[in-house]
Amino acid sequence: MLNDVVPLTLEQRSDNRGSLIAIEDYNLPFDIKRVYYIYKVMPGVSRGFHAHIDLKQLLIVVSGSVKIRCVDKHEKEEVFLLDSPNRALLIQGLVWREMFDFSDNAVLVVLASENYNEADYIRDYDEFQRIISSS
Ligand code: TYD
Repeated sequence: MLNDVVPLTLEQRSDNRGSLIAIEDYNLPFDIKRVYYIYKVMPGVSRGFHAHIDLKQLLIVVSGSVKIRCVDKHEKEEVFLLDSPNRALLIQGLVWREMFDFSDNAVLVVLASENYNEADYIRDYDEFQRIISSS
């Protein structure tokens, strides 16, 4: 288990019409400042390859499936499969992440605690290793 990566099961409201999932800020350890989604990913393409200095995110695959490889500040690694709209991954702290094995129809929705800020990104794995070894 990685301390800063928490798989969550979201509550589904299902009836004979279908299912609904609601995410409210009081269910999350952060206020949502930004939402983005990744879709129409070309076959075989991996994305991500970065960590954040100060960002909390909730990742949900609302359609299809995606795998997320995470490496934490102890350089422990784990791969998480998101393959249902009621599964989510909370990522907080210094975590390197790579998204891969996107299915054809995959739509990855990300709720984030901060606005987009390129200065918050660590996009070089050697730099990530330097930062975690000195933190
Ligand atoms: P990028 O960081 O390459 O995506 P990924 O994490 O999937 O590898 O982002 C793609 C482009 O979108 C890049 O030009 C930055 C921009 N972008 C925004 O403008 N706002 C955002 O919230 C995000 C996540 C990216």
